[in-house]
Amino acid sequence: MKTLITNIRQLVQVRDTPAPMIAGAAMKTLPVIENAFLLIEDDRIAGYGSMDDLDTHRADNIIDASGRVVLPSWCDSHTHIVYAGNREQEFADRINGLSYGEIAARGGGILNSAKKLQDTPGDELYKQSATRLEEVISMGTGAVEIKSGYGLDTDAELKMLRVVSKLAQNYDLPVKATFLGAHAIPARYKNDRKAYLDILMDEMIPAVGEKKLASYIDVFCEQGYFTVEETESILEAGRAFGLIPKIHVNQFHAIGGVQAGIKHHALSVDHLEVMRDEDIEALKGTKTMPVALPSCSFFLGIPYAPARKMIDSGLPLALATDYNPGSAPSGNMNFVVATACIKMRMTPEEAINAATVNGAYAMGLQETHGSISIGKKANIIITKKIPGYTYIPYAFGSQLIDSVLINGSKFVP
Ligand code: NIG
Ligand code: FE
Repeated sequence: MKTLITNIRQLVQVRDTPAPMIAGAAMKTLPVIENAFLLIEDDRIAGYGSMDDLDTHRADNIIDASGRVVLPSWCDSHTHIVYAGNREQEFADRINGLSYGEIAARGGGILNSAKKLQDTPGDELYKQSATRLEEVISMGTGAVEIKSGYGLDTDAELKMLRVVSKLAQNYDLPVKATFLGAHAIPARYKNDRKAYLDILMDEMIPAVGEKKLASYIDVFCEQGYFTVEETESILEAGRAFGLIPKIHVNQFHAIGGVQAGIKHHALSVDHLEVMRDEDIEALKGTKTMPVALPSCSFFLGIPYAPARKMIDSGLPLALATDYNPGSAPSGNMNFVVATACIKMRMTPEEAINAATVNGAYAMGLQETHGSISIGKKANIIITKKIPGYTYIPYAFGSQLIDSVLINGSKFVP
């Protein structure tokens, strides 16, 4: 099956020999072919170039993309899409003056979502999650990571991860699973956190590892959640089962989580709203991808990750949604890209690199996703008629996506 897309106004993120990640000043460069064609064979990208160089091609399917921009689909490397219900009440409570921390301290927050999830049967949880996944694919996401962490007991954590594997089976995009049993200490272990940590390390991690229900392990390394020391023990326990760290650090406080992640060869360290100079220094020359989550800052009114400082120091940066019921109830990567430009002073080129190539890296998908390169999967966004790619963050509230191809086929929810 051959699909030929013709007359593309701008074909964006074209890389003949894609680098695994893009860092520092190189993030300002976004390779584009104007007035381009793209050839897809089955599920892969098979060719591209300027329309001037297109010799008559026979294709089973021709899409005329006049006036449209084509780019690789977004790679969202940090989500909590599998959850039950919502936390609208806490949203209202915050507007009325309570902080995220105060809500959590009185049993709301993650523990509120955990209670809801424990009470929700697996098939209902699957239904709610599939609806969210379809929504984000329609908004241009073509590869996604999903965390557990609203179960907080062995059965409920496994229930979440089974929902993630069922999503991975039923949808054609890559869905990467992360075990986040260390998301919060359940209320009943408040005075005996060691007991929860024992269950986490002796029961949950082996169960997840043996059933191969996750590729990654995550910890919410933060004051009031898990200490650096606990984080390190949990990551070590995960390593015995081949679980690679991708961790929540520096959201509210810098307590050394970045350094712990680097020490344990984390694939990514995520959030980074509060970054000391030493945290930026520590990331230099490592293989750990820093990931910023601007929708969380927008929604909670907390600082944005200092993207300018990180990129200007030579670091790479990835962008992700953090889609979850408490701190970022949105899986819209277009909004993330726009917010990164508007609030974090990233250029459109930097933001698109962060949301594609670097996002793919943060899920171990750099060989197959994140750029328009021969042989990569044809996971692609075709926009509505727009002047060029800068219009995507510029017109931040508009729905600019016409269609999304996953493995070369048009996604129909
Ligand atoms: O990434 N920070 C920890 N976890 C989520 C939010 C959890 C929640 O409030 O449900 C996050 O922001
Ligand atoms: Fe998160």
